[in-house]
Amino acid sequence: MSSTTVEVNGTESDTLPLTLHALRSDFPDNDGESPATVPVPVLNSSLVNGESVQTPASFTTDESIVTTKCSSPKISVPGEVLERSTSPNSPRLSSPTALIDATSDYQQSPENKPLPSSPISSPVTSERGNAGRSKSERLTQNGIRRSPRLRGETTADRRKLKRIMSCEEEVTVQQGNDSCKKIKLTASSNKKQSKQKGVSFFVGEPVTEHEAQERWGWRYELKGKIRKGRSWVLNAGGEDEVHVNVVCHYLQADVNGCIFNLGDCAHIKGEGKQQHVGRIVEFFKTSDDKSYFRVQWFFRAEDTVMKTAAALHDKNRLFFSTLMNDNLLECIVSKVKVIEKAPMLGFQSTSIQPSEYYCDMEYSVKYSTFRSLVTATDSLVARCDLTTPSSLDTNNMTIATAPLEISGCQLYKTELALLDLYAGCGGMSTGLCLGAKLSGVKLVTRWAIDYHKSACDSLKLNHPETEVRHITAEDFLALLKEWEKLCKTYLLDDPDKIIETSCDGENESRINGSSLLETDVAPGEYEVSSLVDICYGDPSRTGQHGLKFKVRWKGYDPSDDTWEPIEALSDCQGHIQDFVRSGYKSKILPCPGDADVICGGPPCQGISGYNRFRNTDDPLNDERNQQIIVFFDIVKFLNPKYVLMENVADILRFDKASLGRYALSRLVHMNYQARLGIMAAGSYGLPQFRLRVFLWGAHPNEKLPQFPLPTHEVIVRYFPPAEFEQNTVAYDEGQPRKLQEAIVLRDAISDLPAVTSHETREEMTYDMPPETEFQKYIRLTKDELTGSVPKGVTDWKSSVLTDHRPYKLSEDDFHRLCHVPRKKGANFRDFPGIIVRADNTVHRDPAKEVLLPSGRPLIPDYVFTFEKGKSKRPFARVWWDENVPTVVTFPNLHSQAAVHPEQDRVLTLREYARLQGFPDHYRFCGNVKERYCQVGNAVAVSVSKTLGYALGMAFRKLSGDEALMTLPSDFAFRAPSLDDFSTPL
Ligand SMILES: C[S@@+](CC[C@H](N)C(=O)[O-])C[C@H]1O[C@@H](n2cnc3c(N)ncnc32)[C@H](O)[C@@H]1O
Repeated sequence: MSSTTVEVNGTESDTLPLTLHALRSDFPDNDGESPATVPVPVLNSSLVNGESVQTPASFTTDESIVTTKCSSPKISVPGEVLERSTSPNSPRLSSPTALIDATSDYQQSPENKPLPSSPISSPVTSERGNAGRSKSERLTQNGIRRSPRLRGETTADRRKLKRIMSCEEEVTVQQGNDSCKKIKLTASSNKKQSKQKGVSFFVGEPVTEHEAQERWGWRYELKGKIRKGRSWVLNAGGEDEVHVNVVCHYLQADVNGCIFNLGDCAHIKGEGKQQHVGRIVEFFKTSDDKSYFRVQWFFRAEDTVMKTAAALHDKNRLFFSTLMNDNLLECIVSKVKVIEKAPMLGFQSTSIQPSEYYCDMEYSVKYSTFRSLVTATDSLVARCDLTTPSSLDTNNMTIATAPLEISGCQLYKTELALLDLYAGCGGMSTGLCLGAKLSGVKLVTRWAIDYHKSACDSLKLNHPETEVRHITAEDFLALLKEWEKLCKTYLLDDPDKIIETSCDGENESRINGSSLLETDVAPGEYEVSSLVDICYGDPSRTGQHGLKFKVRWKGYDPSDDTWEPIEALSDCQGHIQDFVRSGYKSKILPCPGDADVICGGPPCQGISGYNRFRNTDDPLNDERNQQIIVFFDIVKFLNPKYVLMENVADILRFDKASLGRYALSRLVHMNYQARLGIMAAGSYGLPQFRLRVFLWGAHPNEKLPQFPLPTHEVIVRYFPPAEFEQNTVAYDEGQPRKLQEAIVLRDAISDLPAVTSHETREEMTYDMPPETEFQKYIRLTKDELTGSVPKGVTDWKSSVLTDHRPYKLSEDDFHRLCHVPRKKGANFRDFPGIIVRADNTVHRDPAKEVLLPSGRPLIPDYVFTFEKGKSKRPFARVWWDENVPTVVTFPNLHSQAAVHPEQDRVLTLREYARLQGFPDHYRFCGNVKERYCQVGNAVAVSVSKTLGYALGMAFRKLSGDEALMTLPSDFAFRAPSLDDFSTPL
């Protein structure tokens, strides 16, 4: 029996496995990510049907074991080998292949043939080896094997299948040409009796053996492989039983007097009065004289991951799925019509009869993907007629495509305009643009908004080309709507009809207070020179909220500009027209259709892990979470080609993930394709873990972007919400991969000059050349990073290093910190006068009280109560060979490991910025606290860079249909070279 833990903060981690969630929510400033120990089951190998598989040998959440140090803390990908206990009562075991248990009949066939069910439900996609297994397959609850056949499914899917498969009754059926026989329907192990009775039988002769073999050969092949004495039912009792004792196939069946053909869609019995919709893909009889059909299911909106968040969706809308299984013929209820619709934004189902269904998207539980059905001509019937379920695999595989190297990385002609909402200092958009460029697409952040002034200043400083607005998102939406109206009014709905005459303003541009004068300028009157800006809100804090123009007054400086409500400018039509005309031309604001891409991280303060007062029961009704609604309202209004939303993992955790489901539901409701993934920043070449949720949206006719697979090993620190574990962007167990070693602190910051806790310089020079690939990359200038000048032209000695200053500690804390030894794992527990008891709690040794120069005690009182005295984080040093816990908005040395390994100070702004992947040329505005906040809030640039690449590849239609893609080699530290852009496409 053995178990181990992942290192946290490079020390033996704080041992709080039993209070993981409570800890997160109670802990300020830790971004919901309290470092916690993660029990790692040890995997034993054994042979199953000649295959080497691993089974969990042991698992425990016993504290004493949990605190054992990990001998090998580097784990390939989050959730991959490491598994964890999500709660003390339900330890989750990990075993990638243990789920194909030795007793199961449902094994990979020796010839490596794919097995007969959809990729979602097939137990082993053997052509891909282990690659097809999702993360969820590796999790078992309380050590009980979860059916590998449902590895991609949500609980709802499983429940749905259970319902679907629960028709079991004694009925008299006529079996084809056979005489009537009394048989027991055993569509599932659910023994619930169905009250419905009917007469169902196959019609006509069985199809010839030759044709049956040709069309459904996989079933006959499987039959041949069943060893003597074994069950004919694969996954017996499971939700997707496959019956292999097939005797013959039919083309038609009569169910209650109605003839059904292959390809027909039908209502199929569910639980109670519920009926589900599926398409019949096979009719077959088994050796025990039972009649079955195989069904390919359609999902209703509420049966998908959207669940209750889909309540407002059209009830006639179905989602195609490749999920299939075998059912008794008697489960068919009636024929239904399912119309395939070409994907269309804003489609209204008025042309659909109430009795009909329509389907314009495919749903796959893998990465919660909603995708357009490929083309209108690619008919569903054709798809459903596929004779082997495995041939549907290509639609749903989540394995990566081969890395696509763009030869010469030629720049695509089109420029894509990006709007960054809740932009902060611009981490997300900066990375997106860098990554898109590596795919050959010029993505430009044209507009950005944030309600923090210092964040806006930072963004503008680094992106002078961007229209940055200091405004709330809700006011921005109001402004966009007003702007559209203005454009319609003053451009007469037609940009070509721009009025050329300019108003001289002589008689119409004077304001005295709010009253307009039409005569000569009188004393106390001011003449409008021009309108220079527009906003919605109350920037001058007059108490009046609304549309305002910034007025430049004749004879006055820009510093005398004032915001005036549009109502006060009704006599300044010429000026308004001039402003709207030039603003429209230069696109000071996007009109619907102008923004190709919208990205943003709407804050969800009401659910954030450190918010104790969150409304966990109904977070959408929490005012602090309204921004997610505003975000999608802006998307709806502007109608971009692509959407990328980022958020903390908690949106998939609280209130049964209602916020995450809401986000998906909004996109799908607008007919956007959607895909949700959870990415760990450390997997993309950063020395911090940082798990974040990303949601792609794409116009129905665009290619839905993929999620980029990790490039680096990462040290796992915590796990995504269990239900969404399968959304974690990671290689599947056994899938071939080339991962680079995890980046550690030394790789990232060892070249930075030493500074003290009292450092106040904003600029300094480097004192040594870069030592690592990371450092070489992060020091590239903006021109080098964007490929405008060749790399390496800048001499490091002449480069300026900015923001390399730490938050200044109080004198007491500084003195305390000086007592922490400069060694791995050091923290306040190394102070003299601390007693550590066997239960890991700390206590004061009254005999050894040390006082600071201020007279206060060296050991502050709170360390004895913080996390019940068990924490090791106060005054903890991070060490060179570690990654740090998620960078948060303030380096609070009382509660986080934020202290430099060998200098008596917290990590500097620049060091934090590097941990987030910001290049050294990126500067930050505001006071030190504001700057830390911007850095900590940002999407790690290295992560958004990978997503920008995925976006560019999708835009160029160079990516596959799979959910995941492989990045080019060395992507993390790759910048375009000049040659890359020499020949435009
Ligand atoms: C998580 S940060 C976004 C970070 C950004 N995406 C990046 O990568 O740098 C959220 C931002 O939303 C801003 N914010 C919060 N509420 C807002 C609102 N109602 N309107 C506009 N901005 C808001 C905050 O100032 C903060 O900068």
